[in-house]
Amino acid sequence: MKTRTILALLLMLSISLASCVKDTVDVSYTTYSDEEYQAISAVLNLPNDRVDYEVKLPQHMLELGMAPPAINNAKATLGRVLFYDNKLSRNQKVNCSSCHHQELAFSDNKAFSEGFNGELTPRNSLALGSVANFKSSYEGGGGNGIEPFSQPQFFFWDERAHSIAEQSAMTIQDDIEMGMNLHELSGRLAQEPHYRVLFSKAYNTEAVQPNMITDALQEFINSIVSTRTRFDEGLAAAKGDANRPFSNFTQQENLGKMLFIHNCSSCHGANMSISPEKLANNGLDVEYADKGVGAITGNPADNGKFKVPFLRNIALTGPYMHDGRFATLEEVVEHYNSGLQMHPNLDHRLRENHSNNPKRLNLTNEEKAALVAFLKTLTDEELVTASRFEDPFK
Ligand code: HEC
Ligand code: HEC
Repeated sequence: MKTRTILALLLMLSISLASCVKDTVDVSYTTYSDEEYQAISAVLNLPNDRVDYEVKLPQHMLELGMAPPAINNAKATLGRVLFYDNKLSRNQKVNCSSCHHQELAFSDNKAFSEGFNGELTPRNSLALGSVANFKSSYEGGGGNGIEPFSQPQFFFWDERAHSIAEQSAMTIQDDIEMGMNLHELSGRLAQEPHYRVLFSKAYNTEAVQPNMITDALQEFINSIVSTRTRFDEGLAAAKGDANRPFSNFTQQENLGKMLFIHNCSSCHGANMSISPEKLANNGLDVEYADKGVGAITGNPADNGKFKVPFLRNIALTGPYMHDGRFATLEEVVEHYNSGLQMHPNLDHRLRENHSNNPKRLNLTNEEKAALVAFLKTLTDEELVTASRFEDPFK
């Protein structure tokens, strides 16, 4: 009787000790046990110590009042694996990166992208370097405790998704894009030993839930922040004042920068980090086949209004506009120079003195080339080559 009690006590003690040890391993999030790492390395090329997804913003961004998203490395790691996994689509033929390629700043080089069944998306794939991350671009919260900065900026060309998690749920379940059901997907992933490890590291449970899938994707996308461009170097040296000539720019690039500030920054922002305007009609057509925001609100005053996209990495993300109608930046500049169409909702900034005439910039060839040269300073080479964003599958 006595020995049994002692044995039972010993057993309880060893169980609680074991769970203590297990807890410390879980909480530190630095390494996997041998068994866990075996499950992971059977399919994935991940280092045994955790990859660091921390986002650091340069001083000139912090001074704008921006806050970097606080990234949980275990969730971002899981999100990255999900981002590259064909299992997310019904027939296991496409993954997020099929339409968001790292070397193209997570955009696609086609006007419309191919979904799981070979059908084309109705709109051009959006680049992901710096969409979600800034305090300025997020509705208060979005899973990361980011406070609203100015107007919130939402997701998709018509801003119909209010967070990346919501966007991801829509994309995974979209009939053209991935055609999958989140509950079915949860069951599919729970069968995989490596996912059981990754989910328990991120959420302390092996029971895969739909909201964990979309939350982890959001965490990974939030870590993709573009901050290292020649433009940022110039802006840092100019103490955050975009109006000053940048010492690291050519004369042509500095001319392009001034032209941009005068003609484009009222919507796209002179600092490439906060867009003063979230939605606008930029005069692509007199009659829009795709009504954009108007198709959602049913309000004719919203017809032809689309998200004002960030222009970071723009040299890599063609073709351009919501329907990919322009193949090159030269064509885009010519659109703003001479091609604006008089839609009733054409933004007032793109009209001649608030009249019913679209603005004509009458730029010289030299000025047009300068504007293009400036747009090419916005490329972040680190982002497009960083190993922490790469396909982790063997
Ligand atoms: C079949 C191609 C395709 C796949 C697969 C795909 N996307 Fe997209 N993505 C698009 C297109 C096209 C858009 C723009 C759609 C729109 O605005 O209506 C987009 C938009 C987005 C946006 C909005 C960006 C912004 O600035 O508003 C995010 C974020 C995004 N995708 C993330 C993902 C994630 C995460 C996955 C995987 C779960 C994924 N995408 C899978 C084509 C795709
Ligand atoms: C009135 C606000 C506004 C002004 C001013 C403006 N834009 Fe835009 N820009 C937009 C909107 C809105 C879109 C997306 C439109 C769409 O796809 O339907 C856009 C799209 C773009 C794109 C394509 C982005 C992509 O990812 O496909 C580029 C490049 C661009 N603008 C550059 C410029 C330049 C250069 C100027 C100045 C000459 C300028 N913009 C002035 C609102 C504006």
